[in-house]
Amino acid sequence: MDIPVKEGQLCTVEVTGLSHQGEGVGRREGFAVFVPAAIPGDVVEVEVISTKKTYARGLIRQLLQASDHRVQPLCSVADRCGGCQLQHMKYEAQLAWKQTLVADAFTRIGSLQAQVLPVLGMIDPWEYRNKGQFPVGRDEGGMCLGLFAPRSHHVVTFPYCHVQPEAINRALKIVEELGRKHNIAAYDEMRHQGTLRHIVIRAAEAENTLMVVLVSRESNWQHPAFFADIQRCVPQLKVLAVNYNPKRTNAVFGDRTVAVTENEKITETIGQCRFGISPRSFFQTNSLQTRVLYDEVRRHIPQTGSPYIWDLHCGTGTIGIYAAQGSGRVVGVEVIPEAVADARFNAATNGVQARFVQGRAEHEARALAEAEGIPDVVILDPPRKGCDPELLEVLIDLAVPRIVYVSCNPSTVARDAAVLTDHGYRLGPVQPVDMFPHTAHIECVVLLER
Ligand SMILES: C[S@@+](CC[C@H](N)C(=O)[O-])C[C@H]1O[C@@H](n2cnc3c(N)ncnc32)[C@H](O)[C@@H]1O
Repeated sequence: MDIPVKEGQLCTVEVTGLSHQGEGVGRREGFAVFVPAAIPGDVVEVEVISTKKTYARGLIRQLLQASDHRVQPLCSVADRCGGCQLQHMKYEAQLAWKQTLVADAFTRIGSLQAQVLPVLGMIDPWEYRNKGQFPVGRDEGGMCLGLFAPRSHHVVTFPYCHVQPEAINRALKIVEELGRKHNIAAYDEMRHQGTLRHIVIRAAEAENTLMVVLVSRESNWQHPAFFADIQRCVPQLKVLAVNYNPKRTNAVFGDRTVAVTENEKITETIGQCRFGISPRSFFQTNSLQTRVLYDEVRRHIPQTGSPYIWDLHCGTGTIGIYAAQGSGRVVGVEVIPEAVADARFNAATNGVQARFVQGRAEHEARALAEAEGIPDVVILDPPRKGCDPELLEVLIDLAVPRIVYVSCNPSTVARDAAVLTDHGYRLGPVQPVDMFPHTAHIECVVLLER
C-alpha cells in the first residue's frame, strides 16, 4: 500500500478508535494514523511526525470538532505527562472503551468468543494510587521530581498529581525541596553519573502511613543529614529506605535495599486482611479496587471444605491469602525473595495455612504437584508479558481442574487462554476491573475450567 501521508504534512483525521496505548486512531485513505490525546468522535488537524509501512503518527495542531466524550483534564500537565493517557475522556466512556479493548484482544489475539462483562469501575476515580515512582530530573533550582513524558525520559514536573493521594503529593514536594537544600545530584542517564535516580513513595491508607524509598546509582550512598531531614519533615513517614541500583538499566530498583528507619514495612488492609509491604515487593497500586478484584477471584474459589490453592505469581501472598480466608490451604510461588518473606509474614498475620516457595512458577509447579498433589484451584497473576509457555504446559499436563487467571494485559491473557482452551479448558466469563482510571490499563479476572 502506498503511504498517503508524509512527515511534516498537516492533515485532517476523524478519530474512530483507540489503540491499546490509549492513542486515538483514524484513517487517511484507509491508512492508520495514531494521534496521542485524541479520542473517538474527535476531528483533528494533525501534523504527521513519523511514518512507518502500515501506520503514521501525528500530533494534534487543532481540535476541529470535539468528541461528546471529551472533558477538560483535572491535571495541568495532562498533555505532557506520560502518567495518564485518558484524562480528557469521560470516565464512563473510558470504562466502555476498556470493555471493548478486552473483547477485541480475545477475538483478535486468542480467536476466542469471550463473554466480557461490563468493567467494574470506581465511584470516585481520583487520588486512588497508593504508590508513585518519580524519576529525578534537573531544573534551575537543582534536582526535581516528576514523571516521564510519553515515550521519553524527559522529566515533567507538576503542581499536584490527581491520581495520587494528597499524602503522596505532599511527601513528593517535601523530598524535592530537601533534595535541593542538600544539593543532591540527579542521576544523568546519558553519562551514567549523579546519585538519585528515583523516589518511590507508597501510602498505606488504613494505617495512615508512608514509605519513602530513595533509589541511588552510587552503591553504598549515605547522606545522614538528608535522611534525617526527610524523617523529620515528612508527616506519616513510617519507612525510609535506600535502594542501590548501580546498573545502566530502565528498571527502577536494584537488588539491594537498606532501611534507614527501624521499620521496614508499611501495612495495608484489604477487606478483613492485613498485608505488610516491603520496599521492593509488588502490591496492587489501587487499594480500594484491589478488594473488588480479589472478591472476583474469591467468587471462583470453593468456599466449602478446605480448598487447596496454588497462587503462582504470589507477590506478597495477598490474593491467595484473601481467597483462602477462613478455610483453604495455599501454596505460593514468587521470584522476589523479599516478597516471599512478606508473604510468609502476611499468612501468619492473617492466620491462613500457607507455604511459600521462592522460585519461578514454571520451574516449581511440577515438583510441587509431586510433593503435595494437584491443587483444586490455581491462581495465575503474571507480569504484563503473561505466563511462561512452560508453566501452561505443566498445568495442562497436570490437568488442574480450575484456573483463575488475573491479568493486567488483555493481549497476553487472550494468548494464554487460547493455549489452555486448545488443551481442554473452557473459557468462562471475563471480568474486567478498572484498577487504573485515566490510563489505558485494565485488569481482568478470567475463569478457565477443564
Ligand atoms: C502482577 S504481580 C502479582 C502479585 C500478587 N499476585 C498481587 O496481587 O499482589 C506479578 C508477580 O509475579 C512475580 N513473578 C514474575 N515472574 C514470575 C515467575 N516466573 N514465577 C513466579 N513469580 C513471578 C513478580 O515478582 C510479581 O510479584
